[in-house]
Amino acid sequence: MTATIGIDGNSADYPVRQGSVGPEVIDIRKLYGNTGRFTFDPGFTSTAACESKITYIDGDQGILLHRGYPIEQLAEKSSFLEVAYLLLNGELPNAKEHDEFKYLITRHTMVHEQLATFYRGFRRDAHPMAIMCGVVGALSAFYHDSTDIHDPMQREIACHRLIAKMPTIAAMAYKYSVGQPFLYPDNSLSYTGNFLRMTFGVPAEPYVINPVVEDALDKIFILHADHEQNASTSTVRLAGSSGANPFACIAAGIACLWGPAHGGANEAALEMLRQIGRPERIPEFIARAKNKDDPFRLMGFGHRVYKNYDPRAKVLGEAATKVLDTLGISDPVLDTARELERIALSDDYFIEKKLYPNVDFYSGIILSAIGFPTSMFTALFALARTTGWIAQWTEMMGDSEQKIGRPRQLYTGHPRRDYVPLAQRG
Ligand code: SDX
Repeated sequence: MTATIGIDGNSADYPVRQGSVGPEVIDIRKLYGNTGRFTFDPGFTSTAACESKITYIDGDQGILLHRGYPIEQLAEKSSFLEVAYLLLNGELPNAKEHDEFKYLITRHTMVHEQLATFYRGFRRDAHPMAIMCGVVGALSAFYHDSTDIHDPMQREIACHRLIAKMPTIAAMAYKYSVGQPFLYPDNSLSYTGNFLRMTFGVPAEPYVINPVVEDALDKIFILHADHEQNASTSTVRLAGSSGANPFACIAAGIACLWGPAHGGANEAALEMLRQIGRPERIPEFIARAKNKDDPFRLMGFGHRVYKNYDPRAKVLGEAATKVLDTLGISDPVLDTARELERIALSDDYFIEKKLYPNVDFYSGIILSAIGFPTSMFTALFALARTTGWIAQWTEMMGDSEQKIGRPRQLYTGHPRRDYVPLAQRG
């Protein structure tokens, strides 16, 4: 099938490609050659930047699939490490593959001893995301044997190192901020249990892992693992398209994720809920969110793709109640969140604009109950999303059609003009 695009009395046909599910795409790669014109799509609202087999989202139906498996089933039945294998390799592992992958990742969890000195250069009150940007970007200075992007073996080692070391790096960022010593990984623990111990354990006594917390955090990691071509994943792909090494690409993704419109929303959402404080103040904030003259937005609400309930938010909303009840924590912020959701979802503005809670609306309530400061929330998002980023980077590196990403523009600046010497300027 083709799409005909005509302008100035000339027209040409452009191939229409159908994926396995989801919208078709019009391949417009020859448009500029045929018409001398670009498409214009700031924010890429109607643009597919690549072909991918990893994650599929149906925003109208609120569907999220990883390699075809529904996120609800993975969150309920799988583990983060198994989902990482699935995202990277395309299939769920059998028992042998699972054990080999777990062995590999477990034995890459330590970081170069010299890397620990990096932290000393930061102020103790540095935001953990500032530390993550710096330390992850520096990994390429330590692991020269996995930066040759043309060697499949080195690419695979870099993927395993990044998945394995992100918990260690994130835990070290937290420890540094609270002035406690770093803990080395413990290979006898699960991926998430090891992270909990490195974060909340101390050398002075054994750390007892609460299975409810370990399960809840592992579920949170699964729900944050990948999400198609979101801003930070697109950043990783764009950085990778220039041939940058995988550590530099992931550092670029971390930087993009930090923004409050993206991964920084989990920190902003909890701060907003705490600012609202009591359910009686909700109408005031709803009014602000609807006011075009007020830059305030309901953090944790709305989504570029989901025009229905974010399936991840549904799972997290249920998990929040379970975790707080099990831990015996009564957090009024959860009541405020529930009431805010109820009011917003019955408000014409939110209904008309199809604004629903997204992944960031409830996650912070659970993370806070587990004991993480809000400043660590986005670092945890980055820890989990590294798996999706590196799976997408690997897919891009294997894509024969991939070229360096180089968008064009609509230029509205000055046409050509000659230099005016200083003495002649007004
Ligand atoms: C993530 O892309 C991904 O997949 C991201 C993510 C992932 O897993 O990688 O899902 C993770 O980033 C989730 C989103 C976290 N961000 C927030 O919760 C911040 C609050 N949300 C908004 O900033 C906004 O909803 C975005 C950024 C998420 C989406 O913005 P879009 O797609 O560019 O939509 P838009 O800004 O054009 O909004 C459409 C309309 C606008 O009104 P009009 O100009 O049409 O009159 O809806 C309004 C917006 O003003 N709107 C909101 C709103 N979100 C959108 N109004 C009030 N509160 C909000 N939260």
